[in-house]
Amino acid sequence: MAVNNAMTADFLRSAYGGESMAHMRYLIWGDSAEKDGYPTIGNLFRAVAYAELVHAKNHFNVLKEQVGDNTVVAGAVFGHTNIIENLQGAIDGELHEIKQMYPVYLETARYQAEKDAQRTFHYALEAEKVHAKLFEFAQDTAKQEKDLDIAAIYVCPICGYTEIGDNVEKCPICGASKDMFKAFE
Ligand SMILES: [Fe+2]
Ligand SMILES: [Fe+2]
Repeated sequence: MAVNNAMTADFLRSAYGGESMAHMRYLIWGDSAEKDGYPTIGNLFRAVAYAELVHAKNHFNVLKEQVGDNTVVAGAVFGHTNIIENLQGAIDGELHEIKQMYPVYLETARYQAEKDAQRTFHYALEAEKVHAKLFEFAQDTAKQEKDLDIAAIYVCPICGYTEIGDNVEKCPICGASKDMFKAFE
């Protein structure tokens, strides 16, 4: 895997930074959800944290030949208050990635004929669309002071696709077999 153009490389670094922070933030908010009596929403945060780790790894691996130190500027959501606001932070972060960040990064990678970057940005963009919906669903439930009533959550380790239950034979984003999915329960 490789990247040749400076602007796509910068976007990969920024996306790596954003995904790394999202991963950490979701683990922190997941612990809070569990402590506050919402263990299943906590499990959703942990599953999505893993998906963001998959995205960060994919971006990092495209940059593997870009050896050296860089200052990374990346979008980050802050705040650690209550479950409703934490979920709003999660929704806002995902929507930023879906509407602003990844479409622009993906178009740039296409323009610069960066095949590996196109793939990793495409995987992240499609997975984030699912994350936004899952967090909206969780927030609607938490607003009624209820936890989610769902079975296990599954995450594709190749692209970060996330779903409630294992209802698909193959990952709808990357085509990986569901046998590879990581379960969070
Ligand atoms: Fe996400
Ligand atoms: Fe996948």
